[in-house]
Amino acid sequence: MDDQLRPTAATVFDALGADYERAFAGSAAHRASLQRLLTRLAPHSRILDVGSGTGRPTAQSLADAGHDVLGVDVSPVMVDLAAHQVPGATFQCADIRELVLEDESFDAVCVYFSLLQMSRAEQSRLLHRLGRSLRHGGHLVVATVPLDVEDVGAVFMGQKVHVTSFGADEFTSVVTGAGLAVEWEQNSVFTPSHPEAVPEPHLFLHCVRLSRTGMIDGCWSAQRRWPGARGTDEGARPLGRRNGGGPPARRRTWADGTMSSEASTRT
Ligand SMILES: C[S@@+](CC[C@H](N)C(=O)[O-])C[C@H]1O[C@@H](n2cnc3c(N)ncnc32)[C@H](O)[C@@H]1O
Repeated sequence: MDDQLRPTAATVFDALGADYERAFAGSAAHRASLQRLLTRLAPHSRILDVGSGTGRPTAQSLADAGHDVLGVDVSPVMVDLAAHQVPGATFQCADIRELVLEDESFDAVCVYFSLLQMSRAEQSRLLHRLGRSLRHGGHLVVATVPLDVEDVGAVFMGQKVHVTSFGADEFTSVVTGAGLAVEWEQNSVFTPSHPEAVPEPHLFLHCVRLSRTGMIDGCWSAQRRWPGARGTDEGARPLGRRNGGGPPARRRTWADGTMSSEASTRT
């Protein structure tokens, strides 16, 4: 499709505005992911929320807990909504692909469903940059729709969109290739509350930036060697299935049918 005719993320989300928040407000998996992140953060952590949307629930939960949150979104309508709804956080209207990110400047980065209008190369490049923007031991939480699709035209809540994503395993490989170890993953199917919505698979990954020696919280990570991977797996002890085998991940099924796996960090 001619790039000039392609609906941009800003156009799509300017049109959706508060309808997006209403449609996704029932996502128990998103709330569970935020609750888990909150238990991992030191007080007054500095957090980047990529594609911050209306600011709810992500920036609001984090700011209410006393953290210093910067939300970045390419849609002016979303940024206006977020700034009004979440005065305790700071919001900036920018394309995250063009924003300069200082190395090791955040304790956590959230990326909830904001990659899907980027090409695969852009998603991969951005995840590498976001990984570098985290301090070692910092947290990256990323959620996506794990489908093996590239530039597929679709209608999302009445808006024409072009969607690009990865299947779950490939997406996890991109994340680990960015120097991050997956600690926890959650798979769910969610149907947005909107007359034109259809059930969507959702994948949530909670990751930690490896230390320079490839350790997480004093444990060795058995991160797979993906091209460009940072850290090392020499002398590694396995953390779990996604991190190279080892003890089985603890699996938990939630009341709403979502399922999560926690990589064991036992040494
Ligand atoms: C599906 S919404 C998710 C909003 C929010 N993260 C949530 O989960 O409630 C995706 C958001 O990412 C924003 N976005 C998409 N591409 C972006 C880009 N290149 N830079 C900044 N924001 C972007 C959109 O404008 C939109 O607000």
